[in-house]
Amino acid sequence: MSSTIDSILVEHRVFSPSAKAVAGATVAGMESYKALCAEAEQDFNGFWTRMANEHLVWRKPFTKVLDESEAPFYTWFDDGELNVSENCLDVHLTNGNADKTALIFEADDGSVDKVTYRQLHARVCRIANGIKSLGYKKGDRAIIYLPMSIEAIACMQACARLGVIHSVVFGGFSAKSLHQRIVDVGAKLVITADAQLRGGRAIALKSAVDEALADEGGDIVQHVIVYKRAGSEVNWSGSRDVWLHELEDGQPDSCEAVAVEAEHPLFILYTSGSTGKPKGVQHASAGYLLWASLTTKWVFDVRPDDIFWCTADVGWVTGHSYIAYGTLAAGLTQIIFEGIPTYPHAGRFWEMIQRHKVSIFYTAPTAIRSLIKAAQADPDTHPQRYDLSSLRLLGSVGEPINPEAWIWYYQNVGQGRCPIVDTWWQTETGGHILSPLPGATPLKPGSCTLPLPGIITGVVDEAGNDVPQGRGGFLVIKRPWPAMIRTVWGDEERYKSSYFPTDLKGYYLAGDNAQRDADGYYWIMGRTDDVLSVSGHRLGGTEIESALVAHEKVAEAAVVGRPDATTGEAIVAFIMLKDPVPDGVQADALAKELRDWVAKEVGAIAKPRDIRFGNNLPKTRSGKILRRLLRVVAEGKEVTQDVSTLENPDVLKQFTGVY
Ligand code: WTA
Repeated sequence: MSSTIDSILVEHRVFSPSAKAVAGATVAGMESYKALCAEAEQDFNGFWTRMANEHLVWRKPFTKVLDESEAPFYTWFDDGELNVSENCLDVHLTNGNADKTALIFEADDGSVDKVTYRQLHARVCRIANGIKSLGYKKGDRAIIYLPMSIEAIACMQACARLGVIHSVVFGGFSAKSLHQRIVDVGAKLVITADAQLRGGRAIALKSAVDEALADEGGDIVQHVIVYKRAGSEVNWSGSRDVWLHELEDGQPDSCEAVAVEAEHPLFILYTSGSTGKPKGVQHASAGYLLWASLTTKWVFDVRPDDIFWCTADVGWVTGHSYIAYGTLAAGLTQIIFEGIPTYPHAGRFWEMIQRHKVSIFYTAPTAIRSLIKAAQADPDTHPQRYDLSSLRLLGSVGEPINPEAWIWYYQNVGQGRCPIVDTWWQTETGGHILSPLPGATPLKPGSCTLPLPGIITGVVDEAGNDVPQGRGGFLVIKRPWPAMIRTVWGDEERYKSSYFPTDLKGYYLAGDNAQRDADGYYWIMGRTDDVLSVSGHRLGGTEIESALVAHEKVAEAAVVGRPDATTGEAIVAFIMLKDPVPDGVQADALAKELRDWVAKEVGAIAKPRDIRFGNNLPKTRSGKILRRLLRVVAEGKEVTQDVSTLENPDVLKQFTGVY
C-alpha cells in the first residue's frame, strides 16, 4: 500500500481486459467497439434508430431521428411517444424480472429494506395516483428534496409516469438555494421528508422547505408532500402539507402511464456554471432514457445477476442516470444507501459490498482518497479486511482520478481482478461520454480513455480547430447526441452562449480542458471556468462569491480552488472587508461567521476551507480580479508570474493569515 498518496505518480502501465472480462461482454473486444463506432459514423441516423428501437418501448413509433433545423436546439425522435416510467418498471412485469429485487435500501443505522420490481411498480403507481388526486398533470413542475431512499426514486418515477417534470434538489443545499430553484422552475408541488438521517444525526428538511416557501414567490407552491422518515417534529400547514403515507393510502396499485412526446422534458437539474445563478439543465424524455440505459448496459456490462451500487445521491445527475433511470430500465438490482462512508466506521462501504455481494461498484475519487487515508490510520477499515470477492467491475466518476488512487482502488478493492471504468460526463450530457468498455478497452490509470460509440468528441483551440496530439485544449462534442441538454430552463440565450459559443464551429463546449495521447486516449485536465469540484460536488465559485458579498461586512470576494489530496479541490475565499482587516481571535470569529453565512446562503457543502482577509483584491487596471494569481497564493506558493498588469502588485503580500 502506498503511503505517499499526495505525491505525483506517473503510471505508464496499461491494463488490458482479461479473457474472462471479454467473454460474454455486451461489447466484447476492441473490434466490436470499433464496429459500433463505424456503424454510427457511416449512418448516424440509422445507428440511433436501431438503438432507440432496440432499447426503448414506444407507444407511438418515431419516424424522425435527429432534427438539426433549429440548431443548437436539437430534437431527437421528435414525433415518437413513450413513457419513461413504463420503460423502467412496466417492462419488467412481463420479461421475467417481476419478482427480481429492484432496490436494496440500507439505512444509516444499517437496517435493510428490499423491494422487487413488482412492488416498486405498485408503490410508484400509488404515489402517482396520489399526486394526480391533488390535481397535478403533465407539464407541471415538482421539486423533490428528499434523502436517499426508495421513496426518492419512487417519487421521481411517479412524476415521470404522469409527465410531471421533476427537479431534484440535493439535501445538502440550503433553504435559500431551494427557494431559488422553486421560483426559477415554477414548482407547484414540493416533495420532501421531515428530516434525513446521516452519520447518526437527523438533519431537518421540512423546516428548510417551510423557510423557502415563506420567502418572496414561494407561495406558488400549492402542496408539500412529506415523507415521514425520522419521526421528528415538523410545523404543519393544514391546507398545504400532506403526509406521503396518507396520500398513498387506499390508492390503487396501478396507474396508467401517460404517453408523452419524445421531447417532453423529463427533468430539470440545476447545476453550477460560470455566473452566480445556477443553470436549470433540461433533459428530454426519450433521448435521455435511451442513453442512460444504453450506457448502463455498455459501460457497466450488466449481467442478469449483478448487484449494482452507485454511491451517488439522487440530488446529482449520477443519481438520476445510474440510480433512478438507466439502471432501472436495464433491470438491475441496486443498493440505495442513506448514510455516509465513514459511519459508524470508515470500512462501511467494504462491509456493505461484502454484506450485499455487490458485483459493480461505482463511486467518486474523493471517496476513494478519503478511504485510503482512513485505512492508513485504522487498518480495521482497510478493504482487505473484508470479503470483496463478489466484485466484478469498479467505476469512477465526477473528477479526474489520480493514478495513485486508481492503483489503490484496483489493487485493494478490485484485488487486481476488476476493470475500472473511469467515466467522464456531465449533468448536461445526461450519460457517459468518454469511458472504457470493460470487455474491450485497455485501461490507463488516470485516463477516461475513448468516446463511446455514436459520440464524436475532440480537443480544439479557440477557433474550433483540432489541436495536435499531446497539446491541451477545449474538450468538445462535435455532433449532437440523444441525451444532450435541450436548453437552460427559461433561458435560451444562456444555453447558446454557455455551450455553443459562436467561434467553435457549432461544437458543444464542455468547459473542461483535455489532451489526447498517441493512442487517442483522453486525459481531463480540469475546468476552464471557475466551476469547482469539491468532494465530487460541482459548485460555482461565482455563486459562493455572490453569497459572500451579500454579507454586510464584506466589500468584495474572490473564490478559487486549491488542489486537495482528499477532496480534489478545497474552496479558498479571499475577502476584502468594509472595515479594517482583523487578526487573531477576531479574524477566527469573523471567518466562522462567514462560513456559517455561506452554509445558509448556498449550503454546508459550499463552506470555504480557507478564508484570507485583505484590504484589496488583485485586479488589472480594467478592474478584473486576477484569480490565477490568487490560485498561486491559495496553494501557499510564491507568485513568480508576471504581475505587471496588476494595478497594485503589492496587493498579493497582504493575504498572509489563513483562517
Ligand atoms: C468533472 C458529474 C475527470 C468534469 C457526472 C465535468 C470528471 C464535471 C469526470 C461535471 C472524470 C466528471 N474525469 N473529470 N471521469 N467526470 N468530471 O455536472 O470537470 O456534476 O465537467 O456531472 O465533473 O460535473 P457534473
